[in-house]
Amino acid sequence: MKITVIGTGFVGVVTAAVYASFGHTVFGLDIDPNKIAKLKKFQPPFYEPQLEELLKKTQTKGWLHFTDNYREAVADSEVIVIAVGTPSNQDGSVNLDYLHSAIDSMIPYLKEKVIVVVKSTVPPGTFADLAERIKSQTQVAFELASVPEFLREGTAVQDTLNPDRVVIGTTSQSAFTVLESLHKPLKAPIIKTNPESAQLSKYTANAYLATRITFINQIADLCEKSGADVEEVIRVIGLDKRIGSHYWYPGPGYGGSCFPKDVKELAHYSIKAGEVDNLFVKIDQLNEKRLGKLFLSYEQLVGGFKDKQVAVLGLAFKPDTDDMREAPSLQFIPKLIKAGAKVMGFDPVAMNNAQNVFQTEIEANQLSLTGSVLEACQGADVILLLVEWPEFISFDYGLVRDTHKKQWLIDTRNRLPREKVKNLGFVYRGIGA
Ligand code: UDX
Repeated sequence: MKITVIGTGFVGVVTAAVYASFGHTVFGLDIDPNKIAKLKKFQPPFYEPQLEELLKKTQTKGWLHFTDNYREAVADSEVIVIAVGTPSNQDGSVNLDYLHSAIDSMIPYLKEKVIVVVKSTVPPGTFADLAERIKSQTQVAFELASVPEFLREGTAVQDTLNPDRVVIGTTSQSAFTVLESLHKPLKAPIIKTNPESAQLSKYTANAYLATRITFINQIADLCEKSGADVEEVIRVIGLDKRIGSHYWYPGPGYGGSCFPKDVKELAHYSIKAGEVDNLFVKIDQLNEKRLGKLFLSYEQLVGGFKDKQVAVLGLAFKPDTDDMREAPSLQFIPKLIKAGAKVMGFDPVAMNNAQNVFQTEIEANQLSLTGSVLEACQGADVILLLVEWPEFISFDYGLVRDTHKKQWLIDTRNRLPREKVKNLGFVYRGIGA
């Protein structure tokens, strides 16, 4: 079967490579020729474990192709998967410009009875408009289906190959049959829903997980005020089978390309649907305020950052990715600089992106990007761990302990061995204790 995947972001590239690994002929399409040139050389435009090998294998076998030419990608395709970005507008509503532009561009080349799959995250109600948009431009018969994506960055290949479930939201039995057989090799439960349920499921899953994070961060704040320890609280509640012990890491709030935007979009959608007083608005506000609140408490802890050397460990939004969207470093580093600190930053894979993002600060000698954890921490008054990379957790902080001065080790992810670090002589600050 010929399949086209439009958009070569995380979702698009990984989806295209996984469908191709089943032996289908897959065309990945993007309007950015630079991305296509890289992908043809097996280079993903972002850091993602296992992806390079999969791109190499599927392209070498002749199953996967990349192009910026709509005619080449779309003509004769039975299934077109749209995986372009749907960012938030200023007011939190979803911006469908990329989706509309992809649809308008593919229309001239559509094959009769094509199935158009929307993998991009879109709110319920979008399909009526999309169907109208297509019908107004072509006589070709088509079916629409919503197949939302639940992959996480950093484990995108594994998540796509081993999903917890596949959701196929469509009113067309024939489209369902084709898509069911396409996803069979994944050996995951396949759930047929109407398009609106599929679309809302995606927002529901992300908003629930974001709520869980915000919830435990609130409890962590109460622990700090009450003498309780959030890790002990998590151990206790986690044994309640209705609650469970996973995905309960308190920290600097949720970031990345999905949670912040999806919660905002759900809040906006709720208000539009008449649910003005809704949970999602509050979750978004609490998460937005989290980093500022933490920064103030750290400023107080260390007695101000003026003339302090601060090592910032972790510049992307989480480990195993170079994605800096909504990363805590984006707020912390400018705040530290404004407060008069000299900042040394390090990230195992996000250094190129950080170089671009913080170009002004680097040129002004306010920030230095270093080559290792050791280099970043050498001479530091304050070590600020923002991302839970294993190499930050296992690092021997004794190597950078200077017994002649007071040093603070701030662990925003609660992953360092607390007692060990305190015994080295650092003033330790975690979350929720
Ligand atoms: C998320 C969803 O998990 C995925 O299903 C969806 O398709 C896209 O959004 P991703 O953004 O890649 O994936 O990362 P995830 O690992 O879920 O973390 C999201 C954010 O929450 C990160 O900032 C992370 O640090 C934070 N987080 C996660 C916590 O603060 N505590 C936790 O317990 C878990």
